[in-house]
Order: sequence, then structure tokens, then C-alpha cells
Amino acid sequence: MTVSSISPLGILVPLAQEAEALFALMKQDGATHTQRIGGRDYHSGHLFGRSCVLTLSRVGKVAAATAAAGLIHAYKVGAILNVGVAGGAAATVKVGDIVVADAMLQHDLDARPIFPRYEVPLTGMSRFAADAAIGNSLSQAIEAFLAEDLLQLSAEIRERFALAAPRLHRGLIISGDQFVNGHAAVAALRDDIPDALAIEMESGAVAQICHDYGIPCGVLRTISDSADDNAHVDFPAFLATVASFYSHHILRRFLQRTDW
Ligand code: ADE
Repeated sequence: MTVSSISPLGILVPLAQEAEALFALMKQDGATHTQRIGGRDYHSGHLFGRSCVLTLSRVGKVAAATAAAGLIHAYKVGAILNVGVAGGAAATVKVGDIVVADAMLQHDLDARPIFPRYEVPLTGMSRFAADAAIGNSLSQAIEAFLAEDLLQLSAEIRERFALAAPRLHRGLIISGDQFVNGHAAVAALRDDIPDALAIEMESGAVAQICHDYGIPCGVLRTISDSADDNAHVDFPAFLATVASFYSHHILRRFLQRTDW
């Protein structure tokens, strides 16, 4: 699907630290306008030259669904990009890696025996596809970021979070209304959904809303923890230093591209 260059891009961010950092960048790019709808602020303006509407969805699937519906109804966005952090689900996905979704699934959705496990009732679907053009463009932006921008992050921060050689992964992201931080819980998810790359709490809901409205959807997640007993001790510091740096520079490269 080609994303309209006239409609704004909706940027949906679950956590305040990342949303505030992106809002600060929007303010550097000209005037912004903020509207409060359903207890949420929607900031419209430009980010790296592109018309955007940014909202802090807050955490969880219902919050994300509400925010996505607000972007679609109130702003007629041409696409939604969900930006945030995630836990690594696959053993190969390490802290500091980046996952771009090809598809999203809600791992806590279970209406058996009426519907198959994970299926969104009455849709016949459990996996919702991300937009391929957005995914390809994001991936190219990320490859350039990893090759050219990452070293701008101080050696101290890279060492502190063991960011040796971060990689890009592309595939399935799973969402549920739990922060997964135990070995048994992540092992069960790996057994049940072996191709899951990353776990978070929103994109499955955003994908479902985008599917219902026929709006392209992209998901970009920085891996903040391994979702097991070693889940990050300093999550706020990771968000403030690593995740915000990643989203700033990846979005700069992505929004300056014209191939989506
Ligand atoms: N977001 C970041 N890390 C997560 C985890 N371990 N589980 C769910 N959501 C997350």
C-alpha cells in the first residue's frame, strides 16, 4: 500500500520518556498544535519535515487501541507508526537490537473453545500484517543508523547496556497486557509461538485497529530487556539514553525517505 504524502503520519508512543523526546524534536521543526481527546494529548506539526501527529498512548492494548482510533478519526492519518521498546522473545534478539514487525499477534487473546487460540473473534485472523513498504523503508533507515549513527552514543552508555553489535531483526512481534519478566513466562511464550521475535504491550492492538480501518501500520521496537529474570534493572535510564537516541535518529532517517 502506498502511504499518502498529504495525510499526516500518526506516531503512537506508549511511554512518556520517548514521546516527550520526540515532541521536543517536533517543536524544533516549527509550530505544533496540541489537542486533548479522551484524556490524551495529540500533537500535530512536523517532524524532520514530514507532517505528523504524535501521541503518548500509554501502556497496554486498550490504551493503544484508543490512541490509534483517535489518530484515525480526529486527524485522518494516512498511516500509523508505533515506536517503543520491547522485550526480546527469541534467544537471538539481544538488548539494544531493533525489531521491525512484519506481523503482530496478541499472545493473551484466548477465546477457546469458541475460537482458535490467538484469533481475534469474528475476524478469522490471529496475525495482522504490517505494511511492507513502511517496513522496508524503516529497515533501510535502521541499517544506516546502525552503521553510521550508533557510535555517537557514548562508549560509557554502550558499555553500560552491553550494546556490542546491535542488529536489526524483522518478523513477528507479540503483544499482551503483561510485562513479561520471568524465565518461565518467556519460555512458555517461546514454546507456544516459536517465531516471536519481541514482546510488548501495544502493537497487536494498533495492528487490529489499522486493519479495521484499512490504514497501513508500521512497528519499530528497540529491545530493552530479555523478558526473563534478568529484565533490565535500570529501565528509565535505558529509555532516556538508548531508546530515545535510537528513535530520534531512526525516525530522522525514515522520515527523510520518500519511498513509503
Ligand atoms: N516492553 C519492554 N519490555 C517488555 C517486556 N519484557 N514485556 C512486555 N512489554 C515490554
